[in-house]
Amino acid sequence: MDRPIRVLFVCLGNICRSPLAEGVFRHVVKEAGLDDRFEIDSAGTGSWHTGEAPDPRTSQTARLHGVALDGQARQFMTEDLEKYDLILAMDRDNLHDILYLDVMGERSSHVRLFREFDPEPGDLQVPDPYYGGPEGFETVYRMVERTARALLGSLVAHYGLTVS
Ligand code: 4NP
Repeated sequence: MDRPIRVLFVCLGNICRSPLAEGVFRHVVKEAGLDDRFEIDSAGTGSWHTGEAPDPRTSQTARLHGVALDGQARQFMTEDLEKYDLILAMDRDNLHDILYLDVMGERSSHVRLFREFDPEPGDLQVPDPYYGGPEGFETVYRMVERTARALLGSLVAHYGLTVS
């Protein structure tokens, strides 16, 4: 058995966008019968929310779509650069903050914007819904689900995985 493919989703607080991307990606991976092939996590570039559960508005939106979120916020660590095959930033600030920690630039090819995989990529960023109204969470959900499905399609093709 090959080692798992390690994917990390990163935003600022690790309570809205990246736990949602983690949960939705877990969900589509499970649907495809590939849960034993992946190790999936999320982290925030900031530490303010460390230890907290996902934002209730994010969890509620996910639940309405049949996706349960769990886990506790943690901060992105330099070690994550080595560990993960793919590190997916939700916006350009997150991307910049991750790459800043990659001092030698050796892991930069593993760090990408999540929405590079979006078939409707827009400005390539997932907007932060934290300070907005409930419609922002639904918009972000749709964007994240569409991108998570496309991401899995790319990884299935890249690694030659068999979908059940
Ligand atoms: P996230 O959203 O980066 O998608 O988890 C945020 C959550 C909290 C804050 C900012 C963004 N904050 O400033 O506390």
